[in-house]
Amino acid sequence: MHKEIIIDLNELDKYLRKIDSVFPCGNIINRNINSKNVISYYRDSSAVYKYVHSYKGAVHMAINYDGIFNKKGFFTQLNEITEFINESKTEKVLELGCGKGFNSIFLARKLPAIEFSGIDITDQHLTVAKKKSHPIENIKFAYGDFHKLDFEDSSFDFIFELESICHANDSSQVLSEVYRVLKSGGQFVLYDGFRQVGFESLHDNLIQAAILTEKSLAVNRVNEIDDWLKIASKTGFKLKVKADLSQNIMPNLCRLQILARRYFENPLLAKIFLKLFSQNAMMNCISALLMPFTVYNKAHGYYKIILEK
Ligand SMILES: C[S@@+](CC[C@H](N)C(=O)[O-])C[C@H]1O[C@@H](n2cnc3c(N)ncnc32)[C@H](O)[C@@H]1O
Repeated sequence: MHKEIIIDLNELDKYLRKIDSVFPCGNIINRNINSKNVISYYRDSSAVYKYVHSYKGAVHMAINYDGIFNKKGFFTQLNEITEFINESKTEKVLELGCGKGFNSIFLARKLPAIEFSGIDITDQHLTVAKKKSHPIENIKFAYGDFHKLDFEDSSFDFIFELESICHANDSSQVLSEVYRVLKSGGQFVLYDGFRQVGFESLHDNLIQAAILTEKSLAVNRVNEIDDWLKIASKTGFKLKVKADLSQNIMPNLCRLQILARRYFENPLLAKIFLKLFSQNAMMNCISALLMPFTVYNKAHGYYKIILEK
C-alpha cells in the first residue's frame, strides 16, 4: 500500500469535518440524483477528468495489478475484454455508457472485423467520442439510455460497461434490457463499483463517507454486490466470474486523494475555488478524498463481473 494514502478510520472524522466546512454534507447526502444531474455532472467535470484523471479520455479507474499507479492501468479492463471477446465467435458488441469513446475506439481498432456500438446520455461525451472515432468504420456512437435500449431483441453477442451502470436508478430494468438485446449464450462483462455485503452494519462515519462519495459522483445509490447479483440471476443470467479488484484500484485512488487533501488543506481557498468553478466539478474532491477510506474499509468494492445469457 502506498505510504501516502490515508485510510485509517480514526482519521475519517477529521476529514468529514474538513469537507463539511466547505460543502454542507447534509445537503449532499439528501440529494436525489436523476439522469439530468448525471448529465450536468459529466458536462461540468469534463475538464477535471481530462486534466486530472486521463488526458486521453478514460473516465474509469486504472487497474494496476502490481500496486503501482501507471496510466497503462486504464487499459487493463480493455486488454481483458479483448481476450473475452476473442474466446467466442463475436460479430457485434455494445458498450453501455461509452463516455468519450476511450474503450470502444481502442477495441474497434484492435478488432477491425467486429462491429462496435456505444451509447451514452451525455452529449458532451458523445461529441468527443464521435470526433475521436472518425474515420474508423466499425464503430458507431449514439445517444441512448441503458434503462431503455433502442435495439432489437438478441442484437449483440457481447455487451460490456465500465463504471456507468453504477448510475442506474433501476438495476432490474437495466439488467432486463441487457438480457433482452443479448443473444443466447452471449456475455455481459462489467467493471463497476458496488456496496460491499454488510454495508448497513458499518460504523456511521463510514456509511456517511460512502453516501457522500456516491452522491458527489452523481450516483444515487449503488446496490450491495450480492443484491445486484440476485437481481441478475432473477433476470435469467448465469454468473461466470465475480472478482473483487478493490485492492487493484488503490494506486489510482491514492494519487487522487493526495490532490484532494491539498484542496481541503485551506478551507478559505477551497471556498474561493468553489466560487470560481462549478460545484459539480469541485465535488470530485469529496469522492477523491473519501474513496480510499470507503474502499479499503469495505464499504465499497470494485468488481469484475461476467454474466452469461
Ligand atoms: C464514469 S463514466 C465512464 C465512461 C466510460 N465507460 C469510460 O470507461 O471511460 C460513466 C458514463 O456513464 C454514462 N451514463 C450514466 N447514466 C447513463 C444512462 N442512464 N444511460 C447511458 N449512459 C449513462 C455517463 O454519461 C458517463 O459517460
